[in-house]
Amino acid sequence: MERLCVRGGRPLLGSVQIQGAKNSVLPILAATLLNAGVSVIHNCPALSDVDAAIAILRHLGCAVTRTGTTITVDAATVSRTDIPDPLMREMRSSVIFLGAILARCGEAKLSYPGGCELGPRPIDLHLDALRAMGVEVEERGGTLHCRGIVTGRVHSLSIPSVGATENIMLAACGGKGTTVICNAAREPEIVDLQQFLRSLGAEITGAGSSTVVIRGGKPLHDGEHTVISDRIVGATYLSACAACGGEVELLGVDPRWLLPITETFRKGGCQVTGEGNRVTLRCTEPLRSVPPIRTAPYPGFPTDAQPMVMAAFCKSRGVTLFVETIFENRYRQAAELARLGAEIRVEGRVAIVEGKKLLHGAAVEAADLRGGAALVVGALAAEGESVVTGLRHIDRGYASLVEDLGQLGASINR
Ligand code: UD1
Repeated sequence: MERLCVRGGRPLLGSVQIQGAKNSVLPILAATLLNAGVSVIHNCPALSDVDAAIAILRHLGCAVTRTGTTITVDAATVSRTDIPDPLMREMRSSVIFLGAILARCGEAKLSYPGGCELGPRPIDLHLDALRAMGVEVEERGGTLHCRGIVTGRVHSLSIPSVGATENIMLAACGGKGTTVICNAAREPEIVDLQQFLRSLGAEITGAGSSTVVIRGGKPLHDGEHTVISDRIVGATYLSACAACGGEVELLGVDPRWLLPITETFRKGGCQVTGEGNRVTLRCTEPLRSVPPIRTAPYPGFPTDAQPMVMAAFCKSRGVTLFVETIFENRYRQAAELARLGAEIRVEGRVAIVEGKKLLHGAAVEAADLRGGAALVVGALAAEGESVVTGLRHIDRGYASLVEDLGQLGASINR
């Protein structure tokens, strides 16, 4: 069994280039299906979720090549409209292929993605939107069969779901008429998807705001795009620095994407600067507790950063409260952090972290992607040696965790 050995208690120091964003590259790879030609995508991180997306593209008939972090997809030869269950199960976000296959082929058949380690992950908003736009959706025995193309209309999402916004954007590009998504998710990764779709010739505006407008049916052509950096990976290294002390500079991330995180650590006593595409965090004394941290859709505090930031506050002065509003089961790291000496009480959607002066090394096991990253942050902050297992979860989202942290002076080996 593979494991990470971490010798904690050292400050982190140095600069690190942030990998491409997992949550951008996955919908963009799905979007390559829209163009019956070649798309070239740069800055694609080496993640198991990216491997899963490539496997789906190949199954559908695309020719996919990978050179370093560049992926080239030739979708001229798409020959299928189905995604078999094992490929759907590989990755929860494979549901994003639904809109793309529909846009390209007018028909899609895939299995229902079901729940996941963060709790139930319904796709009712995706399906309601497609139905409202004239797509026939049949659900039978865990299989979804969708037929027809989208007819443009105004559609309002009851919550700003990232995946539903992306699925509608993709389906609407291949539909007819104008689609307006109200209460759309505003994440930077949605803006990145819009940029890629525009590089293909799609007419789409408004991403990054609550209203996205897509004029369907535009003829598309070959495109090229560079994926934005991963703000959640950036948040991970900021959390590690806040937990261990030292000074870490992130290269390639827009400081605005990280504001909820940097503001939190600033309140906790760190010095933070951000300009251009760089963010620097300096931490010279133990973190102080901060007012309650409540996760919310962008531009609020990202749920994906909550576990790592929680790990940082395990070693702090005072009590910090977390309120998780997006996912039901997102405190699975708490019990494992307790093995490192953390004191965390979970009551439903609230977690109360009583900061400790010291954490100590222990054996811990990741149960999900960001929860796993939180254990690495905790292990780095703990005195002595820790062993982290459950690495398949961490590999879904981190392309060079060991190398990056090693470069910052951490003692970490796989
Ligand atoms: C995306 C991200 C994930 C992040 C999440 C929230 C990708 C690949 N994944 O996931 O890392 O944690 O956004 O920022 O980009 N919901 C429904 N019905 C639906 C769809 C969503 O009830 O049809 C609920 C979900 O259960 C959840 C909330 O809406 O409580 C937000 O989910 P959503 O924004 O859709 O997350 P994902 O797109 O799955």
